[in-house]
Amino acid sequence: MPALTAGVRGRSVVARLTVRDKALERRMLRSLDRVEARLLACVGETSVPFLADVAGHLVTAGGKRLRPLLTLLGAEFGDPRAPGVVEAAVVSELIHTASLHHDDVMDEAVIRHGVTSVNACWGNAVAVRSGNWLLAKAAQLSADLTPAAVPLQAQASERLVRGQLRELVGPDGDRERLRHYFDVVADKSASLFSFALRLGALQSGAPQGVDEALARYGEHLGTAFQISDDLLDVTAPAWQSGKEQGKDLAVGVAGLPVVLVLDAGRPQDEELLALLSGPAGLNGPQRDRALGLLRRSDALDRARALMDGRLAAARSALAPLPPGAARGALDALCDVVASRTE
Ligand code: FPP
Ligand code: MG
Repeated sequence: MPALTAGVRGRSVVARLTVRDKALERRMLRSLDRVEARLLACVGETSVPFLADVAGHLVTAGGKRLRPLLTLLGAEFGDPRAPGVVEAAVVSELIHTASLHHDDVMDEAVIRHGVTSVNACWGNAVAVRSGNWLLAKAAQLSADLTPAAVPLQAQASERLVRGQLRELVGPDGDRERLRHYFDVVADKSASLFSFALRLGALQSGAPQGVDEALARYGEHLGTAFQISDDLLDVTAPAWQSGKEQGKDLAVGVAGLPVVLVLDAGRPQDEELLALLSGPAGLNGPQRDRALGLLRRSDALDRARALMDGRLAAARSALAPLPPGAARGALDALCDVVASRTE
């Protein structure tokens, strides 16, 4: 079985996670190797070589493998070696990859995971259909897992799509802006975090109640993760994040720093407010100017404070879970999100 390449291991979140329990760390690395092998096999399982190339494009480019890691950590609360745990982790990554195929079409993104995006390589029609195919592959795997897997996958997929559509539609009036932001983020990002954890717990036969506690933790962690993503969109150059900087501004998506500036509507942000209330989508010098103004405003600190609040809520949500190495690793994952640079 091929091991994770040094590159993939290095990029994986597990490389940044302080796992105090060395037995757990070794188990995670071994399991992630198995997930990687199964994932690569899964995207290659087609009689159409072109489809294998397209579907394998982002998978081989890298990614942090955060969602499969969540599934594996969820499984630590039951029997982590139970049949189907590796496949459950693969399902989490396949759904995530499918959503990236679609998201990059919506954002007209040209870079993802540091490589040319699927839509930029092969066009939107191919990117959407290969995304659908990845989702179908995930459903095929789910069908052989715990009976809860298919309904959970359906619910997570529904929330992903609903979140993206609500983001497109926008808030119902200015007063709803912040609430709308958090509703969208819960659906488009946090849903997959709680799904991944929950599926791991259920597949491993974890005691009753564990999956609900993990789902609550996942909702908070996923929201914090999306806030960190919004911050990186403003602060991180493409070489660091593997994505184009300022993409949210370019496509007219209001990340949290922008939402906070719009909501406060303060006189000192006059120039930024004028740029943000122009036609949706800023490019060229206007986008550079808006990014500079955002970096100088206090919106980044305020967004960070909201992120820290979600991370504190995530840590508190761990309280009902049995103490031990896995709970410690989930707590440490909050530190990884807080200090994200990519
Ligand atoms: C990235 O957000 C995108 C998501 C978190 C979810 C995308 C979901 C869909 C497109 C719905 C379709 C889903 C499936 C399963 C086919 P972002 O644009 O804020 O982050 P980015 O900076 O990584 O692009
Ligand atoms: Mg995007």
